[in-house]
Formats: sequence, C-alpha cells, structure tokens
Amino acid sequence: MSGDQAIRALLEWYTLAGVDQAIDNTPRDRYREAANTLSAAAKPPATTEPEPIVARETAPASPPPMPPTDTLLPPGDATWSAQEIAAACTSLDQLAAAVRAFDGCALKRTATNTVIGDGNPEAALMIVGEAPGAEEDRQGLPFVGPAGRLLDRMLAAIGLDRSAVYITNMLPWRPPGNRSPTAEELAICQPFLERQVELIAPRILLLVGGIAAKALLNRREGITRLRGQWFPFSTPRMEGTVQATATFHPAYLLRTPSAKREVWRDLLDIEDKMKSGETAP
Ligand code: URA
Repeated sequence: MSGDQAIRALLEWYTLAGVDQAIDNTPRDRYREAANTLSAAAKPPATTEPEPIVARETAPASPPPMPPTDTLLPPGDATWSAQEIAAACTSLDQLAAAVRAFDGCALKRTATNTVIGDGNPEAALMIVGEAPGAEEDRQGLPFVGPAGRLLDRMLAAIGLDRSAVYITNMLPWRPPGNRSPTAEELAICQPFLERQVELIAPRILLLVGGIAAKALLNRREGITRLRGQWFPFSTPRMEGTVQATATFHPAYLLRTPSAKREVWRDLLDIEDKMKSGETAP
C-alpha cells in the first residue's frame, strides 16, 4: 500500500468510527490529562493556583452553583444537577452561561462549541430540533447546515424567518459522528431545554423530528404518528400550557423529499394557529 493509500484508508477508518473533523493541530492524550487532573485533585491545595490542565470554555459572568469536578457525574446525579442549575437561571443569558459551564454530559468533551439557540427570544414560535450537526458545532449556532437551510425555506413558505422564531435543540452539544443521542444524554440535558421554553414562553412549540417529539411530549409513538397533531406542553414550573406540534425533521426531508407534502400541511396548520392568536388552555 502506498503512503497516499495508507493515509486515505486511515481517514476512511476514522470517518467510520465517527471521527470526521479535526479539532486540534496536535494529538492530545485526554486519558492522561484526566488522570493528572484526578491525582492533582487528591493532593493538598497548592499555595499558587495551578494552570488548568483541561481547556474549558470561558466561565460565565455569574453562573449558578456548579459541581466543581473534572470527572463526569453519574447520569441520575447529572440530571438532578441540571435541574437545580436550570431552575436557578432567571434569564436566557444566565441559562446559556450555565449550560456552557455544565460538566455533567460527556458530549461537551468532544464538541467544538456549545450550541444554545438562535433567533428572537420574544418569538411566538419556538422550534426544537435534535442536536447540532457538524456545521452547527463549527459555528456554534443551531440549524446552519444543509438541514438548517431547508428549515429556513420551510419557514419562508409561511412568511417567517429567524427574526420571527426562536430555534434550539434538545442537546447543546454534537454527538460524535452525528450519531443519535442516547436516552441518558437527552435526560441529562432536558432540564436546560425545558427552562429555555419557560424563559422564552412561546405560544407555539414546533418539535422537528422524532427525537424531540418523543422526548418533550413524553410519548412512545414515532414521528409519523405524532406529526400533525396538537398537544398541550407544560413543565411543573409553568402556569399554563404551550400548544406543541411535531413534524418531520428537515434532514429527513432531504433524504425523503416525498414527505414534504405532509410537512407543508403541518406548516399551514401552524400558520393558521399563529394567525388565530389562539392560546392554549
Ligand atoms: N439537526 C438538528 O436537529 N439540529 C441542528 O441544529 C442541525 C441539524
């Protein structure tokens, strides 16, 4: 095998393993870094502040209390911790800072950026997708890749653009290689998403794709059954409910253009609800 062929074979192998983008110029041994961090934590405190070994995103101005740890919390503890942290946030900026500082979900370690939301925080329509893809991870914004461009065209079809909606995802970090989020990752991050809904207080919630629909509506059916219906959505902290509906994910539409007919119906239904000014009971 020539040198070129060997490099190509290695890159293909990386891609199959889900490693599809370079995030650093030099390799890093994260296992050794984690071991160093743990043994440093076991030593008595030094008189001068040691350099952090693992680079973190910048700390928020005044984040809510965080567990000071470089190791992951067990999933149940991480969900509980996310609930406590999210509940303490009284603004979207505070919530964004808290999510960036949260260390309870392993996806953060492989992601380039934390992707919070985009659009108008005062919008009547809030759209929730699954998780950032490669382009979203690079830019730190939701729905900016091919599926996002189709979502923009879907919104334009009913006279909306990003200044009139708020867009976010179930997960703020990209699962490596765009794999589906695990139930555990969804459970850990859901309190942050729910708090986002509470703070935005939209009139209508549009869940795109089966992952967001099943998680937020707490249903077992797939998206084919859930789409095109309306459900009352609420959290224990909300006084009323938000009208929630679901449709196919734009990434699915890119692969299955014939499903655009159903989505077009769903969009017209949303347009009607927005025009009617009707609110949930
Ligand atoms: N797919 C999603 O669900 N969200 C994004 O932000 C991009 C692609």
